[in-house]
Amino acid sequence: MTPPRPRKPPRARRYDAAMRVLAIETSCDETAVAVLDAEAGLLGHEVFSQIDLHRLYGGVVPELASRDHVTRLLPMIERVLALATAAAGRRGLAPRQAGAPPVDGVAFTAGPGLIGALLTGAALGRALAFAWGVPAVGVHHLEGHLFAPSLDPDPPPLPHLALLVSGGHTMLIEVEALGRYRLLGETRDDAAGEAFDKSAKLLGLPYPGGPELARLAETGRRDALELPRPMLDRPGLEFSFSGLKTAVRRAVADGAVGAADIAASVQSAIVDTLVAKALRALDATGHGVLVVSGGVSANRALRAGLSAGAERRGVRVYYPRLEFCTDNAAMIAVAGLARLAAGEREPLTIRARAQWPLATLQQP
Ligand code: KG4
Ligand code: ZN
Repeated sequence: MTPPRPRKPPRARRYDAAMRVLAIETSCDETAVAVLDAEAGLLGHEVFSQIDLHRLYGGVVPELASRDHVTRLLPMIERVLALATAAAGRRGLAPRQAGAPPVDGVAFTAGPGLIGALLTGAALGRALAFAWGVPAVGVHHLEGHLFAPSLDPDPPPLPHLALLVSGGHTMLIEVEALGRYRLLGETRDDAAGEAFDKSAKLLGLPYPGGPELARLAETGRRDALELPRPMLDRPGLEFSFSGLKTAVRRAVADGAVGAADIAASVQSAIVDTLVAKALRALDATGHGVLVVSGGVSANRALRAGLSAGAERRGVRVYYPRLEFCTDNAAMIAVAGLARLAAGEREPLTIRARAQWPLATLQQP
């Protein structure tokens, strides 16, 4: 007698190797640590935001960021490793052998970012891997953002189109596979998150202003102020947001339009531009899947605009869970685990780079 066929095929394994990795993210003003298991998923993670440390100065002070990473990293790693051991036990995973290292590899953000901040994570990550006798890998911060939605049970299929919108970047990218990226368009000046933050600062909102401005915008009228949408009427997939600052500065000085109305108008100008270009890129490439990631992907107006446009085209949109939109180590663990499982190894040196073009990456 033939056994009954299972109704659902078993889920394809995501990685080629059974591995558990520790990941460290210190590219800017968040200290973050995560442990990801190839089979059991995320076993623990923690993010500490240095916002209070930098707020006084209205922006990130690189030297203060580095010093704070140094003092927080080791205790955070100890906590997250303990969390991971407890979670593994609860999920019924076999305990690791006595004397074995707590993980099978270490991933750290190697760039782009503030070089001093990056070096704190790179040095500690590389040293821990050496001491434990396990491999290390340096991860590109943006590759982490791109694969953040893969932390969910239903990861986005490849290839796809990605809209990456963070404090430092605004990019439309064709993602063929991990490490195979084609840049279709990016910003010529300010990033989308930067445009949110600078406008928020002009409105007197506390740093970092993006989420604050979005909150204020909820009560404003988005057609209250006419703002430039400079690259919208031109063909192509480039962005430009630097003109917004001047318009917002003028509106604030003028005083005729209230803060909530200015906020709603700014958010609408940024969101309209991002949505229009992302849809244009979908139409040009024919992709059926759109992945949106980076800090600004937490924005509700952006999510609503993109989802509506994508639905009309029969395109599926994937966003990271809210906690994985902004900087975190879980996303670094996803990219790091895939690269380690494919055999990529960091040499016995401490490497980090402030500048690191995404398109120069290779498939592991
Ligand atoms: O990805 P991320 O945490 O750091 C970078 O790699 O840059 O992005 C941070 C950016 C900041 O500019 C922040 O203001 C913006 O994302 N952001 C938001 C929202 N949440 C974070 N912007 C608009 N609406 C939000 N809800
Ligand atoms: Zn980021």
